[in-house]
Amino acid sequence: MSNGDDLKRQVADAALGLVEPGMKLGLGTGSTAAAFIAALGARVRQGLDVECVATSSATEAQAKAAGIPIATLNSAGELDLTVDGADEIDASLSLIKGGGGALLREKIVAMASQRFVVIADESKLVDGLGAFPLPIEVEPFGAQSTLRMIGMVGREAGCDGEVKLREGADGPFRTDGGHYIADCAFGAIPDAALLGDMLTMIPGVIEHGLFIDMADAALIAGAEGVRVLE
Ligand code: 5RP
Repeated sequence: MSNGDDLKRQVADAALGLVEPGMKLGLGTGSTAAAFIAALGARVRQGLDVECVATSSATEAQAKAAGIPIATLNSAGELDLTVDGADEIDASLSLIKGGGGALLREKIVAMASQRFVVIADESKLVDGLGAFPLPIEVEPFGAQSTLRMIGMVGREAGCDGEVKLREGADGPFRTDGGHYIADCAFGAIPDAALLGDMLTMIPGVIEHGLFIDMADAALIAGAEGVRVLE
């Protein structure tokens, strides 16, 4: 097992400590969330009773294979806790998410949760957001026009960098909702809240990967063990 895998397992085990019997849980997407789902599945097979909502088809498939009961968000209603990974985390717990292309459902599920806890290894901690290209979910109709507007809006918000469609195996990458992802290599985002507000005003933008004032806590795994940021 690589050191990275070991850190993911450690932080996943720590997050499992937040789960109580009877909880309704949101399950994130990505390799760190997958480590949590694997750990949760082991507990469910030992008799832990939880009801879960998946943020992607990949997470749903993994959870079902692990024996975890999956409900729709409509039937589950308000969730107690969502556990998810992130691509970048700053000191105020603002996040960039969407590296796995699931940001829209991740944001919907996180917003439907009383508590949203991010799990990551310390490589995800940053002084300022933006080195990781910001994923933005866009409507396929007129996508090139939307990308140009994202570039313009980005420059107005002090962010300059290439905005390009994410490629999949067979043409543009498609999200579970059938949308495209624009990856925006801004390099640095001076005011993430301003940029987020401006992006949401572009009609072709479905949702962006800036998660501001959403995370209640982050569990961060490093050489010294797991620490909690709140
Ligand atoms: C998926 C995400 C992931 O949580 C993010 O990309 C982190 O993934 P990983 O744990 O594999 O580094 O936002 O849309």
